[in-house]
Amino acid sequence: MTAASKHISANNRGRVEGIAKVTGKATYSAEYQLPGLVYGVLVGSTITSGKITHLDVEGAKQAPGVVAVLSYWNKPNASGLDNLESRDKLPIHHKFFHTTQIDFNDQPIALVLAETIEDATHAATYVKATYDEAPFDIDFSSASKKAELKDAQNDRGSSSDWANAPYSVDEEYTISMEVHNPMEMHATIAHWESDDQLRLYDKTQGVNGVQENIGTIFGLDPTNIRVTSEYVGGGFGSGLLVWFNTVAAALAAKQLERPVKVVLTRPQMFTMVGYRPESWQRVKIGADETGKLLGIIHQSKHNTSQQHYFAEGITGIAHKVYGFKNVERNFAVFPLHLSAPTWMRGPGDSTGTFGVESAIDQLCYQLNADPVEIRLKNIAPYDMQTGNPWSSHYLNECLERGAKEIGWNQRPKQPRQLKNGEWYTGYGMAVGLWTAFRRNAGASIEMNRDGNLVVRTAMTDIGTGTGQAMVNMIHTFLGVPKNKIAIELGDSVHPRSVTQGGSWGLSSLSGAIDAASTALKKEIASYASKDNELWNASEVRLGETGVYSSENKKQTISYQQLFDSNALESINVEEYSNAGEEREKYGFCSSAAHFYKVRVHSLTGKVKVDRMVIVVDAGTVVNPQAAANQIIGAGVGGVGMALREKQDIDKSTGRLVANDFAGYHVAVNADVPIIEVSFINKPDPNINPMGAKGLGEVGLIGSAPAITNAIYNAIGKRFRHLPVTPDKIVTS
Ligand code: MOS
Repeated sequence: MTAASKHISANNRGRVEGIAKVTGKATYSAEYQLPGLVYGVLVGSTITSGKITHLDVEGAKQAPGVVAVLSYWNKPNASGLDNLESRDKLPIHHKFFHTTQIDFNDQPIALVLAETIEDATHAATYVKATYDEAPFDIDFSSASKKAELKDAQNDRGSSSDWANAPYSVDEEYTISMEVHNPMEMHATIAHWESDDQLRLYDKTQGVNGVQENIGTIFGLDPTNIRVTSEYVGGGFGSGLLVWFNTVAAALAAKQLERPVKVVLTRPQMFTMVGYRPESWQRVKIGADETGKLLGIIHQSKHNTSQQHYFAEGITGIAHKVYGFKNVERNFAVFPLHLSAPTWMRGPGDSTGTFGVESAIDQLCYQLNADPVEIRLKNIAPYDMQTGNPWSSHYLNECLERGAKEIGWNQRPKQPRQLKNGEWYTGYGMAVGLWTAFRRNAGASIEMNRDGNLVVRTAMTDIGTGTGQAMVNMIHTFLGVPKNKIAIELGDSVHPRSVTQGGSWGLSSLSGAIDAASTALKKEIASYASKDNELWNASEVRLGETGVYSSENKKQTISYQQLFDSNALESINVEEYSNAGEEREKYGFCSSAAHFYKVRVHSLTGKVKVDRMVIVVDAGTVVNPQAAANQIIGAGVGGVGMALREKQDIDKSTGRLVANDFAGYHVAVNADVPIIEVSFINKPDPNINPMGAKGLGEVGLIGSAPAITNAIYNAIGKRFRHLPVTPDKIVTS
């Protein structure tokens, strides 16, 4: 086979790639060694809006080791960029050498290429641009006030029906701009193997998407571009799109006729690969005396960039979780002079859920009702958007189990009841829900003479444990011992598959693994039936030394015999699978209940999260260790969102105030307790052959409001702006 990626030993239990990762043997995109490699460093604009009138690159060109400096004035040719009409359709991060227009601070304006990374970094400091500056707008609150709300689609009922609801809450909520910051920096190595064959090693969540985007830019068929992304050090959504580093590396490699590597610096990770936009919401909800929710008005606003429109769908959640008969939603998206925002960690829904779950908590105190009871009473009885029944939905069990595990009944029902020294203790809860998607995915199996299997897919693994999940599924479908299964993934030479994101990776891939397993069993049955009694494909099982029949265990053929008598070298199958008409008949969702206990220090405003109990319904759990890891990671993201993460912009310059981990605070170990995760683990009967609904996002959604609800229970103060830093607590 053509794959360059190494076979992965499947002998360990936790993750097939675990040993390679912890011993440093795993090769990440920036680490491939290519002869003649040139190092590229991006230079960003120092203004926020305007035009470059002159670029002085002479100093940089004379610096040691410099090979070239690329910019608008000597841009390489690429048909997708040279044609005005097609170029206009591209987002800014695909065409930066092709404009002098500056629309955000640190927008890449040049690429300095040198023999070493040190030389390139040094030389980049000599690039000097002269600008014609223009006014800029980065002021969220004033732009947000001016932005007019538009009606969203698919609303129902009427807001006048519940205008006089006996209980209601009508409040505004805001969340700061947050930045993904995966551990691994975005990085690309580009190598033109011939005029029309491009090889890319790229940090991405989807190799096939990179093929298509880069294909458009160079006017090439996507299959002319091979993209490898075998190991990915986290994504959180930043790797869903193709950004500057990939395009820059490909353009420069073409120009220089040498392989080029471009790795973003940590500061560039804040301006060049997206972020969760700052947002405003208004949530109005009403209930009757029994606590039945009557209706919701959910409004939202967030920014996009000047040249790339992005809408994150904050109010979608208003439809999904509760059985509101009346739903009215409005939204506004307005441009600022900032880089492009994009999907990040439970995009849209985690933002919207902060508003909705905070409002419901407040309503419960008005009603003097148990927040768990109110939620149990109001869970959407079916998919309210389509009217279809839920295929499976166990949020009620998540709520019941979570309440029990944290000791919910013993909690103080009113704020400020539990005080120990200077610390107040409080309990809070919230729920999360995420549509369970399934998309077209492919997988192949190669079976060798010893009965060992190599299973391949183009899908990347961004740290979720996809490889081990593939091993577990193959073992389930075929019976083959796990030590006979090797995995190759994250390379576009393998069968085309989904981008890993949106919690749809495993759900989609399981269909392909099942289809490939079925195809392999058919092949084996026909070979086995040649010299033996007839084998049914459905009864084929794979053992240590041969195939056997699940119906009649005595019927066994050694692998050697099977391959010899059919003169086989290997058996190869490749299958693709997509969702079917079940999507028209059922609603699909994963859900989670978050039950947290926090302490708030009365003098300093410090918040300690003491317990986090997260109970998840994600259908079948294919790999319990990796699944728990995903939810733990999501919970850490929830603590960050609630208490830490925040990007400020300097109003006078349009620059980010923090572009490193000293200024931008992600949650660290000291901020997070041992997160207690459990799964309902009941298969969904319709979503895919494995019954797995997908997880990841749902562990974050609902996490932040569970924390702010617990803070309210502790000290009686309701926070509607994230993050809740100690200064807010002390001064509120
Ligand atoms: Mo994501 S925002 O599911 O990559």
